[in-house]
Amino acid sequence: MFKNIEVNQELLDYISEFGYQQDPIQKEIIQYNKSLRNQERLQLSVTQANLLQTMIRLCKIEECLEIGTFTGYSALSMALALPENGRVTTLDNDEKNISIAKSFFEKAKLDDKVITILGPALDSLKKFEHDKKLFDLIFIDADKKNYIKYFNISLDIIKKKGIIIVDNVLWHGDVYNKTINDKETNIIREFNSHVKNDKRIEKFIIPLGDGLTICRKL
Ligand SMILES: C[S@@+](CC[C@H](N)C(=O)[O-])C[C@H]1O[C@@H](n2cnc3c(N)ncnc32)[C@H](O)[C@@H]1O
Repeated sequence: MFKNIEVNQELLDYISEFGYQQDPIQKEIIQYNKSLRNQERLQLSVTQANLLQTMIRLCKIEECLEIGTFTGYSALSMALALPENGRVTTLDNDEKNISIAKSFFEKAKLDDKVITILGPALDSLKKFEHDKKLFDLIFIDADKKNYIKYFNISLDIIKKKGIIIVDNVLWHGDVYNKTINDKETNIIREFNSHVKNDKRIEKFIIPLGDGLTICRKL
């Protein structure tokens, strides 16, 4: 059986030359994130962002929700792929992150398409649930300890046949290694079991970046 090829830096460079084009502000956010050194790893990978954009276009998504804005790379990537009437609502509890992200959305002239909400994501999600607000696509990429809660509420506020995408589900590849038992790895394992046993969705884990689970509500 064909095995996956190893994705090294040279291959990523090749893909970036032939596989996609980045918007100038996407490039600018990447450069900015590099200046943050150890925080750079928080940003979604470029290939993952391209997958999000492709799904938005193929599935004709209009209303997106993101849990975890950081400096805005993934939210901007989604906004770029949305139709004229599309919107991304993005949640973060860090004031500085939200303010930096907003400056990039303005620079890209997409600030009318991106709604930022500052505060604990759980509070915003509960409010959406209360207000019966529904989304076509929800991207979960914030604090891992709340992943199960985020996922459960997401299932209540996603439209039928809507898509939930979750990042970091392979946790640097540590999830399968039984000798690794730190708290965060176990949180991700618990989350993956939770999703596996949920009969309200169909799902698929893609080994892209740090691992993405793509779920579709039945
Ligand atoms: C991995 S980063 C998001 C990366 C972003 N999606 C991107 O690709 O650039 C996670 C973000 O979640 C935010 N966060 C962590 N805990 C949170 C919480 N309880 N409520 C809201 N945001 C939270 C952090 O401030 C951080 O900006």
